[in-house]
Amino acid sequence: MKILAIETSCDDTGLAIVDIDSTSITILSNIVNTQTIHEGYGGVFPAMAKREHIANIPGVYEEVMKEAGSPLIDAIAVTVGPGLEPSLWVGITFAVELSKKLHVPLIPVNHMEGHLLSSLLPEYENNKKIMFREMPEKAISLLVSGGHTQLIDVDGLGKYKILGTTLDDAVGEAFDKVARMLDLPYPGGPAISKLAEMKRTSLESRSYQGEEEIEFPRPMLHSKDFNFSFSGLKTAILYYIRDNPIKNEEDKMAIAKEFEDAAIEVIIKKTVRAINESGSTHLLLGGGVAANKHLQNELSRVSLESGFEVYYPVKQITGDNALMIAIAGYFQTLRQEPTFDTTLFKANGSLKL
Ligand code: KG4
Ligand code: ZN
Repeated sequence: MKILAIETSCDDTGLAIVDIDSTSITILSNIVNTQTIHEGYGGVFPAMAKREHIANIPGVYEEVMKEAGSPLIDAIAVTVGPGLEPSLWVGITFAVELSKKLHVPLIPVNHMEGHLLSSLLPEYENNKKIMFREMPEKAISLLVSGGHTQLIDVDGLGKYKILGTTLDDAVGEAFDKVARMLDLPYPGGPAISKLAEMKRTSLESRSYQGEEEIEFPRPMLHSKDFNFSFSGLKTAILYYIRDNPIKNEEDKMAIAKEFEDAAIEVIIKKTVRAINESGSTHLLLGGGVAANKHLQNELSRVSLESGFEVYYPVKQITGDNALMIAIAGYFQTLRQEPTFDTTLFKANGSLKL
């Protein structure tokens, strides 16, 4: 089945065309046009994002069609939420028009299920038949992005139950806000991560004599539930910087490392507990923050200790993209009944068609 997928939930205009069945996928084209206009603002402005999507989407459509060799499309999958409403509507309107023009059905897709199922793709290469990883019978999914931090109990395809979520900022959002405090461009995740790695390397290379260590709080580390909170950590850093003004790159590196250590430690602890308590064998990782090296290293370590397998998403589809929407859309068509409840992932005002 050939699916054309559209993703415009935030600031990435993504379109993809795939040839897909229940065991394999061939990526015919997957293009993400990331809006750079937000870089100087430290966050995404919905009205600006909408305008950019409107300007970008026809060109990206032409590009994917050209790259895929203009195949006959069987269905159009489109992200309907959660996300920024003005952005979402650009993709939805485009998809509705296109489905009328091509006389093909429309599949409304939940953005978070896209991130969740992105971990079933083991490698990334265009025009190659790639076999999916097998969906485990019992798994936990950890979704970490700019808009969400969720632990989800996965009882097979389409059977999801949210165990915990963030009570305030999402982890990616915290990375972005701390980056702003350190005068780093948006999105801040990669930049923070790079500085933190530099600090770790420098700690390892020189015989470390114990200069004064910063220690930020680990919010909700010991709470009995699976919820998260990152705004306290962010505020602690704000006060730290107020009291200890940044003098040089070394100072930035130290803050970045300690922030990353704190945020990732909480995520790891809760994830391992969710795996153990649910008796899951696998962890399905997804979302923009899944690209974080420290998170990946820590997950490798604890998965060995606790004996579970991690499905890491390939780097090309950790951030927002339409390929994951094509995958989620296809698996949705296979379900006999609509077991997937889109209200489950309601956040930032999810949309229903
Ligand atoms: O999934 P995504 O592209 O968009 C949302 O659905 O939100 O995630 C974007 C988020 C941003 O907050 C960005 O800073 C973060 O993912 N991110 C990272 C890294 N790469 C992207 N955070 C930490 N480390 C990274 N390497
Ligand atoms: Zn996302």
